[in-house]
Amino acid sequence: MSLIKAAICGAGGGIGQPLSLLTAQNPHIGEVALFDVAPSVYGVAADLSHLDGTAVVNGYTKDNDGLKQALTGAKIVIIPAGVPRKPGMTRDDLFKINASICRDLATGIADYAPDAIIGVVSNPVNSTVPVFVETLKSKGVFDPKKVFGVTTLDIVRASKFVAEVVGKPNQAPQYKIPVVGGHSGKTIIPLISQSKPAVDIQGETLDKLINRIQFGGDEVVKAKDGAGSATLSMAYAGAKFLNAVLDAVYGGKPSVIQSYVYLPELQGGDSIKNEIGKELAYFSVSVQLGKQGIEKVLPLGQLNDYEKRLLQDALPELDQSIVKGVGFGKSQL
Ligand code: NAI
Repeated sequence: MSLIKAAICGAGGGIGQPLSLLTAQNPHIGEVALFDVAPSVYGVAADLSHLDGTAVVNGYTKDNDGLKQALTGAKIVIIPAGVPRKPGMTRDDLFKINASICRDLATGIADYAPDAIIGVVSNPVNSTVPVFVETLKSKGVFDPKKVFGVTTLDIVRASKFVAEVVGKPNQAPQYKIPVVGGHSGKTIIPLISQSKPAVDIQGETLDKLINRIQFGGDEVVKAKDGAGSATLSMAYAGAKFLNAVLDAVYGGKPSVIQSYVYLPELQGGDSIKNEIGKELAYFSVSVQLGKQGIEKVLPLGQLNDYEKRLLQDALPELDQSIVKGVGFGKSQL
C-alpha cells in the first residue's frame, strides 16, 4: 500500500493538535504536514515527530513558502483554522474572520494541492464550505466529489445522547443516527426515526434530546468559559471522518457518512431538492463514499411529522448562511 500525505491547516490550535495526533496514526498516511500561522506549530510537529508510527510529521508557518510546502503533494487537507466561539457567540459571529482565512487556504489548495480531498472544520461550516467552493471554482479546480463540510461531531453527539436517553451510555457507538441539514443550532436535523437500532423516544424527552444535539456545542463553550469550544471531541470526530474517507478512497472500503456538501453537481443531489421542497445548493446529507470521494448522494428517506417540522425550521437560516458564504466567495473574485 502506498502511503499518502495529509495536511492539517490550523494544526497548532485546540482542534488541530489532537487531530494531528490522530491523523499521524492513520494507516494510509505516510506524512502529515502541520500548517499554522502561529510558530508554536513547530513545537507541535517536533512533539509528534517522536511517535514511533509510520508517519513523518513536519511543521510549517507562513515563512519560507510554508503553505506551499505543506500543501504540495497532499491528497487530503483538513482545515480547523480560525477563531472558535466564546460564550454568547453563535457560529455565524465567526464568519467575518474565518471566511477570509478559508478563502486564503482554499486559494493555497487550488495552487498547490488541486486534487486534494478537503474537509472543512472551520465555522460557520454552513457558510465556510460555500466560500471554499466559490474560491475553488474561480480557480478552475473545483471537484464536488472532494469537498466536505465536516459535521461528524453532530453524528457523534447524536449517538452518545441517544444512548444516554435509552440508558446505555457506554454502548453509544452502536446507535447510528443520520444527522442532516447544516451544522449550527436549528439547522442540525437529527433523524431519530431512522436510528439503527431503532429507539422509541417521544414527547418532552424527544424535545430535550433534539435540543441537546442541536446545541450540544454550547454546553462545551459554556463549560470552557471563554477558553474556546469543542476541541477534543471535534478531533475525535475529525479523525472518524478522515478514517472513513481514506478507507473508501485508498482502502477499497466504501461506506456511507453524512457531510455538508455541494449538491448540484453530485449524482443524486437533485433529488434532495424534491425531498426538502426547496432548492438549496448545500445540505448535509448521507453520501456514499468510494474511490473518487463522494460517489453519490443518498435520499433523506422517510421523515416523520416531527422531523418535517425540524426541516422547515432549519431552511431559512440555512438559506441565509449559504447566501452569505456564496456572496463572500464571489465578491473576492
Ligand atoms: P483555535 O483558536 O484553538 O485554533 C485555531 C488555529 O487556527 C490557531 O492555531 C490559529 O493560529 C490557526 N489559524 C488562524 N488563521 C490561520 C490561517 N490563515 N492559516 C492557518 N492557521 C490559521 O480554535 P479551535 O478550537 O481549534 O477551532 C478551530 C475552528 O473549528 C473554529 O472555527 C471552530 O468554530 C471550529 N469548530 C468546528 C467544529 C465542527 O464540528 N465543524 C466543532 C468545533 C469547532
